[in-house]
Amino acid sequence: PFTLESVQVLASNKSLETIPSRYIRPELVQEVDHDKVFVNEIPVIDLSKLIEGEDRFSQEEMEKFHFACQEWGFFQLVNHGVAEDVMEKMIEDVSSFFDLPFEVKKEYSLDSEGYGQALVFSEEQKLDWGDMLFLRTQPVASRNYQVWAAQQCIPTFRETVSKYSSEMEKIKTILLGMMTKNLGVDEGNFMNMFRDGSKQSMRINYYPPCPEASKVLGISPHSDATGLTILLQLNQVDGLQIRRNEAWLPVKLHPGALLINIGDIIEILSNGRYKSIEHRVIVSNEKERMSVATFHGTHESVEVGPLTEIITNGETAKYKSVKNYDEFEKIFLSRKLDGKSVLELFRLKN
Ligand code: SIN
Ligand code: FE2
Repeated sequence: PFTLESVQVLASNKSLETIPSRYIRPELVQEVDHDKVFVNEIPVIDLSKLIEGEDRFSQEEMEKFHFACQEWGFFQLVNHGVAEDVMEKMIEDVSSFFDLPFEVKKEYSLDSEGYGQALVFSEEQKLDWGDMLFLRTQPVASRNYQVWAAQQCIPTFRETVSKYSSEMEKIKTILLGMMTKNLGVDEGNFMNMFRDGSKQSMRINYYPPCPEASKVLGISPHSDATGLTILLQLNQVDGLQIRRNEAWLPVKLHPGALLINIGDIIEILSNGRYKSIEHRVIVSNEKERMSVATFHGTHESVEVGPLTEIITNGETAKYKSVKNYDEFEKIFLSRKLDGKSVLELFRLKN
């Protein structure tokens, strides 16, 4: 859900020195220099080692992977096997999209899909310093090509996003399969929840440089209300920060790596074994930043709640269940943002 305004247009005014107060975050002033707080970086997982199978590296990598899901909720994925030309085309066509004049981009806008700026729920709420193109990408029948750049604008856009979407589905499937091994749950049942026809969407982000960069946020703190998110950073400009030990850890993404994070749904399914971690985006005062977050939800017919296999061994459910993904989304969309995650609405007080 978003409104049709553009930070890109606002930022393109070269004489802009002070920015509208609705973008200013007073809380940022007191923050420490996060770069100095941390010595370690988020885990790096090598997908080629995970899928190799029999050799000993694979077991080690599986353990690293399990640890990353449990203790970090985030990891960088290298040797992920997505063809370079698919990645490069995605970068090229997404950049071309934001290069289109505002008059053209605004044609790709509907109420809850397409181009615009994140919707706020109250007058007092602050605005994020960024624009987005939000697309439903899977199942294919859910696509609304009206908001996908047309052939006469960017000739390959639809084909490029389709191919990238399929590649993300493959990675999702591999990673979820590995998770079932690490969690010791039935693979068939779990994978059935994320089978063909389950939901995938993309939030394609554009953060222009900001003359008062240290006072704004590109995206407010949140956790992802989805199963699994795969992030592609387009232009080597970092900006994502994750919540860790009560502070914000900046993510330095390796070139070519994809950043994976656990969403609320997997935290719920795993009854809290895997963590959906809060994160936010900061912006630069000289460089634009672009990213593509691909979200993977469950199939719409599936109940969302702690897996019975996990809670049978005398463990109590830490989250409530809802009958399907649509119900989950309804709760998610009805909540007041204000820094709270949807998880808080699901957490049971035992
Ligand atoms: C997010 O979608 O929460 C982060 C996106 C980004 O890193 O730009
Ligand atoms: Fe996110």
